Amino acid sequence: MTECSCAVEVISEADISSRVAELSEAMVGDYRGRDPIFVIVLNGAFPFAADLVRRFDPPCEVEFLALNRFGESGRIGISMDLMAPVFERDVIVVEEIVDTGLTLKVLRAMMRDRGAASVSAAALLDKTRRRLTDVPIEYRGFEVGDEFLLGYGLDWEGIYRNLRSIWAVLDLQPFVEDPAVLWRALRAH
Ligand code: IMP
Ligand code: MG
Repeated sequence: MTECSCAVEVISEADISSRVAELSEAMVGDYRGRDPIFVIVLNGAFPFAADLVRRFDPPCEVEFLALNRFGESGRIGISMDLMAPVFERDVIVVEEIVDTGLTLKVLRAMMRDRGAASVSAAALLDKTRRRLTDVPIEYRGFEVGDEFLLGYGLDWEGIYRNLRSIWAVLDLQPFVEDPAVLWRALRAH
């Protein structure tokens, strides 16, 4: 495992892989015969979703959605919508991390408003202590603390999503000064 003074690996590739397999197995049991639609929240959820759905062997569909936040209020809007209707379908919302819970809350309500038969949520990471609104997560990978995380979909200034493991930022200042600081440290090893 590589370390640098600005960040440390906290969840290995192997640990992610075995936990994702467990979540997928639980979903297979719950969704057999229901042909669910996975609603994948871009950009961050793509590695988790790819690993999750490839271990889900019953028929399913995969749809994508991107959100943006407006101003101080944090109002959430859709910047890229689903291509398929969710009316009378079983929907599984997939997020890489639930932080305040506001995004997931909005998405669950949106799927219900569109007439989904059921809505559940899968999140690889759960920052429980930062929750501002109570929202269920039926399939949860790991409970994490409130440090800023990178890798496996999680970004800083748009980078690090392609790291295979998850890293915690120990000191944010070096990242503010040079967003690629962790890349440089990794490359140096
Ligand atoms: P929330 O649950 O509505 O607060 O939104 C969660 C979103 O905030 C996630 O989809 C991420 O894009 C972002 N986020 C929260 N915590 C982290 C983190 O530790 N690293 C990177 N992005 C994060
Ligand atoms: Mg995100």
